[in-house]
Amino acid sequence: MPSGKLDGKVAVVTGGSRGIGAAVATRFAEEGASVVIGYRSGGEEASELAAKLEGSGARCLAVKADVASPEQTSALFDRTVEAFGRMDVLASCAGINHFGGLQELTPEMANQLFGVNTQGQLFAAQQAARHMTAGGRIILTSSNASRRSIFQHTLYAASKAAVEAMVRCLSIELGQRGITINAVAPGATKTDMAAKNAVKYQPPGLGLSAEEWLSLSYALDHVATPAEVAGAYVFLAGDDAGYISGRTLQTESCVF
Ligand SMILES: NC(=O)c1ccc[n+]([C@@H]2O[C@H](COP(=O)([O-])OP(=O)(O)OC[C@H]3O[C@@H](n4cnc5c(N)ncnc54)[C@H](OP(=O)(O)O)[C@@H]3O)[C@@H](O)[C@H]2O)c1
Repeated sequence: MPSGKLDGKVAVVTGGSRGIGAAVATRFAEEGASVVIGYRSGGEEASELAAKLEGSGARCLAVKADVASPEQTSALFDRTVEAFGRMDVLASCAGINHFGGLQELTPEMANQLFGVNTQGQLFAAQQAARHMTAGGRIILTSSNASRRSIFQHTLYAASKAAVEAMVRCLSIELGQRGITINAVAPGATKTDMAAKNAVKYQPPGLGLSAEEWLSLSYALDHVATPAEVAGAYVFLAGDDAGYISGRTLQTESCVF
């Protein structure tokens, strides 16, 4: 029986109740990790996934934690160590999307976007690192939107660009302790988030359907599935990525 890439590791996946996070939790469990599935509102989905993964032989736990709350984030990692005795890998997948024109933006919207997508990931990294020893892996989630010009996507794109800056800077501090920190920047991936927003990524006035736009936009022949994107997180969590830090791994090239 071949051994898994993450045998004996303990991993926390925020945003693990749905979409990319659920696929990452599944792949981590298949690779031998014990997995804590963090969720905000999807308690039922998170518990169902935990039960399914446990049924396949993994150790798994669903824990409610809003990453916009540093206290809840801190408690998520305390609970992980209490349950499984150590903390090796963070996959920070929780995120929210936003589109809006400049004159419609409010401080509340900016606080919400940066509170979840940027601060939420910063304090998840901080609290994960508090429990990690040498060999720890922190993987945050950016987006290919961070480097593109997308109509009325300012808050989201900025909140994700900040994540790429954070991993570059934190790689030095965490590197001193033998911990790597990187980000994955997915392109369009078939999840609830994409179903709601994919059509909005085209230039104004083009008028294409989501399917038409996506088929023009991406280098590969189909829109990514969450499982395909999860492979990038498995790579960054595993031994083969032991000397990669401060980097952002984009999952495919974007034609526009
Ligand atoms: N899908 C794409 O095309 C795409 C492209 C680029 C980047 N991304 C990024 O990839 C990540 C996952 O996206 P997705 O498409 O899988 O999104 P999704 O289907 O909308 O799922 C979002 C996940 O984030 C969780 N979440 C949201 N706010 C949270 C909070 N405050 N605290 C804790 N959990 C929270 C949700 O939990 P609950 O359901 O429990 O509320 C859910 O598990 C995000 O960071 C997103 O920005 C996605």
